Amino acid sequence: MKVNTIAAPLSLVVPSVLATPQPVTFESKCADLTRSFTAPDTKVLIAKYVPKGTNITFPESANNTCPKFVVTLADICRLTLNVSTSETSSVIVESFMPKDWESKGKRFLMTGNGGLGGCVPYSDLAFGSSLGFATIGHNNGHAGDTGVPFYNRPQVVVDYVWRALYTAGKIGKRAVASFYTSNISKSYYMGCSSGGRQGMKAAQDFPEEYDGILSVAPAINYEGIQAAASRLFKITGKPGDATFLNLEQWIRVHKMVVDQCDWIDGVLDEVIEDPTKCIPRPEALLCETGQSWESHQCLTPTQVDTVRKFYEPVYGTNGEYIASRLQPLTREWIGFRFYYGGVASYLSEQWYQYAIFNDPTWSLTNNWTISTTEYTLKKNLHNVQTFNTNLTALKSHGTKLLHYHGTADCLISSENSYDYYNGVSRTMGLKSSQLDEFYRFFPISGMDHCYSGNGAWYLGGPVQYNTPGALDIDPNDSVLMKMVDWVEGGKAPEKLVGKKLVDGKVLGERGHCKYPAKTKYKGSGNPDLASSWTCENSQF
Ligand SMILES: *[C@@H]1O[C@H](CO)[C@@H](O)[C@H](O)[C@H]1NC(C)=O
Ligand SMILES: *[C@@H]1O[C@H](CO)[C@@H](O)[C@H](O)[C@H]1NC(C)=O
Ligand SMILES: *[C@@H]1O[C@H](CO)[C@@H](O)[C@H](O)[C@H]1NC(C)=O
Ligand SMILES: *[C@@H]1O[C@H](CO)[C@@H](O)[C@H](O)[C@H]1NC(C)=O
Ligand SMILES: *[C@@H]1O[C@H](CO)[C@@H](O)[C@H](O)[C@H]1NC(C)=O
Ligand SMILES: *[C@@H]1O[C@H](CO)[C@@H](O)[C@H](O)[C@H]1NC(C)=O
Ligand SMILES: *[C@@H]1O[C@H](CO)[C@@H](O)[C@H](O)[C@H]1NC(C)=O
Repeated sequence: MKVNTIAAPLSLVVPSVLATPQPVTFESKCADLTRSFTAPDTKVLIAKYVPKGTNITFPESANNTCPKFVVTLADICRLTLNVSTSETSSVIVESFMPKDWESKGKRFLMTGNGGLGGCVPYSDLAFGSSLGFATIGHNNGHAGDTGVPFYNRPQVVVDYVWRALYTAGKIGKRAVASFYTSNISKSYYMGCSSGGRQGMKAAQDFPEEYDGILSVAPAINYEGIQAAASRLFKITGKPGDATFLNLEQWIRVHKMVVDQCDWIDGVLDEVIEDPTKCIPRPEALLCETGQSWESHQCLTPTQVDTVRKFYEPVYGTNGEYIASRLQPLTREWIGFRFYYGGVASYLSEQWYQYAIFNDPTWSLTNNWTISTTEYTLKKNLHNVQTFNTNLTALKSHGTKLLHYHGTADCLISSENSYDYYNGVSRTMGLKSSQLDEFYRFFPISGMDHCYSGNGAWYLGGPVQYNTPGALDIDPNDSVLMKMVDWVEGGKAPEKLVGKKLVDGKVLGERGHCKYPAKTKYKGSGNPDLASSWTCENSQF
């Protein structure tokens, strides 16, 4: 047999290796995961020590909108896995496991995705691992922020809705447990937008996987927000339509809202604390006889009608409430690019084309009506709605849910989050003082979608650290660490202090109060100082 012919030389080699045993280092243990880490349906793609300050590049993202590189903020073991989730689907799972994990609390952190993504949130992996968390991310079952991979592949849709998150969490914990000698002490989740929805999915369906969940600007009532987006496109139309407003005209509408609503909270700063109090009156912009946009920057009655509809909620054919309006005083020029600039939003159109109808010819322009939404709401594909307001299992398990949403969000209305919080209150029959034990919601004034805005928006939350100046802010002050204080120290947040980060510099601070308390200006003092504001009516 051939075996014997190779047995002799091997036996000569082995003793010399044994004679000089290599010490097990963090680096060698990491590389060894290629051999030592095994799990069902799982293939190790990369197991490699990466020192702090390394620029890792992702050439595989050349043709999509996913990150092209990330600079590590800690010495880590990078473990990349390919986990098959069915015969026809798989998820890429990335782990950044830091060297100082044991001394920094032995914490596990799962991160979320965005849009229709498709993209590993590498900046969150870098941020989480810099704080000592063994941080996991995944590609949500397909590559790129696109719905095309859903086409005729229903299992890829299942991954997007919940299974990639669930699978990555399970395999991530297994990887962390096998790499370090200690067990995980606490498990956390953080994500914004689609990632916020994933956090709510975990809160509703598998709360036992996490001790603390940070859900930001969640895309819950998923078909409702798709309807809101589609409706904005339909009511505004295309350039040249009588209903259409161009970018300059939306900027004028923005100024009108500032004039009508900015004073309500007592400070003129283009930030409104409580957008639910703002009901714009676009008739203020009507052209008088003989006036035009060119001569007077005014609007036609048809355009005014567009703006009025724009700030109304979405109702079904029988008048039933489907989704909240886009709250006033966003930075309307950003939403313009996505929803109402005359181009159909890929986020909605691709969802309908590839996940719902399996028909690439289907279009928002020709085919969307409110009946489409009534159909998708009834279908509620794999419970993508993620709007179960019964958090009894989360409460029983002792999991904490920290939820915030920018009230200047131009993509997902913050009023959607108020709807959910109040829905949980009614379903569970608990007042806010009773919800406080396990669920706290913070509206963040002047914050756009996940990051940026005119207000004190920087909190050290998901998708935020990759902004100029963020690295100069003490990560110990981050909302992620506030979550840890709540879970591990019993110190529940009453307000979240945000920083007004502009062009890399911190220009102010504000404490955003826990809903339903109101963040109120004291009436005097520099509004850019947190001390000039107070929380009122916290016993609502
Ligand atoms: C990392 O490398 C990529 C590709 O070479 C480059 O485009 C990027 O600027 C680098 N980033 C940093 C911070 O050096
Ligand atoms: C990106 O697209 C170009 C042109 O189609 C192709 O040549 C290249 O291989 C693609 N790169 C990746 C990483 O898929
Ligand atoms: C992951 O595995 C699946 C098969 O389960 C394969 O089709 C896919 O190409 C793999 N992806 C990568 C990046 O290796
Ligand atoms: C880790 O947890 C397992 C199961 O709960 C337990 O049996 C084991 O002793 C723990 N190991 C350490 C190092 O604490
Ligand atoms: C979408 O609209 C086009 C144009 O009106 C029509 O031809 C097509 O049948 C519609 N598609 C569906 C699936 O209804
Ligand atoms: C909420 O869920 C729990 C199980 O987790 C169930 O016992 C309870 O009846 C549900 N409450 C409502 C109002 O549906
Ligand atoms: C953050 O807190 C940790 C633990 O308390 C401490 O070791 C570290 O120096 C702090 N970081 C900064 C930037 O203050």
